[in-house]
Amino acid sequence: MPAIAPTEGPVAVTGVSGFTGGHMVRELVHHGYHVRACLRDASSWRGRDAVQYLERLPNVEIIDGCDLFEPGSYDAAFAGCVGVFHVAAVLGNSADGQSQPKGSGNVSTDVYEGGITGTQNVIDAVNATESVKRMVYTSSMAAVRGARAASMPVGYEWSEEDWASDGVDPDEWQRPANAYARSKVDTEKLINKAADASNGRWDAITMNPAMICGPILFKAQVGQWIEQIGRLAGGLEPNWPSKYDMYYDIIDVRDLVAAHRLAAESVVDHRESAGGPRYVLHGSGGRSAIRFGTELKAIVRDAFPRFELGTPVAVNRAGEPIPIDGRAFNDMKKAKGLLGIEPRRVEETVRDVVETSIELGIIAPKLDG
Ligand SMILES: NC(=O)c1ccc[n+]([C@@H]2O[C@H](COP(=O)([O-])OP(=O)(O)OC[C@H]3O[C@@H](n4cnc5c(N)ncnc54)[C@H](OP(=O)(O)O)[C@@H]3O)[C@@H](O)[C@H]2O)c1
Repeated sequence: MPAIAPTEGPVAVTGVSGFTGGHMVRELVHHGYHVRACLRDASSWRGRDAVQYLERLPNVEIIDGCDLFEPGSYDAAFAGCVGVFHVAAVLGNSADGQSQPKGSGNVSTDVYEGGITGTQNVIDAVNATESVKRMVYTSSMAAVRGARAASMPVGYEWSEEDWASDGVDPDEWQRPANAYARSKVDTEKLINKAADASNGRWDAITMNPAMICGPILFKAQVGQWIEQIGRLAGGLEPNWPSKYDMYYDIIDVRDLVAAHRLAAESVVDHRESAGGPRYVLHGSGGRSAIRFGTELKAIVRDAFPRFELGTPVAVNRAGEPIPIDGRAFNDMKKAKGLLGIEPRRVEETVRDVVETSIELGIIAPKLDG
């Protein structure tokens, strides 16, 4: 199996101004790698913020101008690399309808094509080298757990053998609302096919994380779930994806990037493992889904007893409780068994989101009483 090691040559990471990408670079540097950090635009505020952080790390080469929608823009970054960690995607802060100057201008098209067209450009850059042996792709639980979730028995544990597209009406699957899940499913398949077509020159492994949370390294990383946990600790109600209560399916970003690295270094035959070369990453320290307005709030209250906390809305206009479905039960058994990942406790993850949100000046908690 084409496992990689830090002594064999540099590795590249895409999407390094993002939450996972920034942590991926940090993880690799701490384990002795020379990292080519691929950035889309070093002159954007997110780019500048990321560069300021990344320049403090040893053995990091920042490669600017790497845009998923620009063919050839990863060629220089990947030349001579032994591994590629493909983390970038059009989502969150980058899927706001204004942040894709080379995209189509339509958010759901860009979300989908950021995966397909963008990853084809990444694959072409891998194929243009003679050195890359392995690609690790950051997919999502959105590619695993789909519309069938509502009809599955309570307690069903999602595994690498599940695909979000399974049993979904084809017209329903094409709806813009499914652009992200569809992008992740189709991109995984695209990568696996390209790896097969390389005739053993390189292989591919996919990571399927749930909601990625953990310490914030620089301000540009704030968005999505970590922003909402910060808002809770800062006394505000959530504002994304809505103000309503819901379950949080957390994976710590540090465990996730460690899983990426361990998969890249592993001599396991990932393709022959159950469900193929993909790994579910969800089930923090034995706890799976956590209700935001009650359980997650209790974790924050225990860690920061003097903070006045925000509350998501849990009732409708008539004062009736809003039914909340979508509780997930996962334990990342395959990642634990084959990669040796032992996820940290979710209490640590949540506390670190809040502490770093305060330290970076993202939130200013009000004190109770
Ligand atoms: N966040 C989650 O809870 C979650 C859950 C499951 C899976 N994932 C997956 O995990 C990966 C990382 O997610 P994240 O939440 O860490 O992302 P993030 O913080 O939103 O970062 C996304 C990164 O992708 C880059 N990017 C966006 N459009 C690009 C383009 N056209 N060309 C090149 N780079 C581009 C962004 O660069 P700019 O700063 O220049 O925009 C940023 O560096 C993604 O593949 C995502 O689908 C995330």
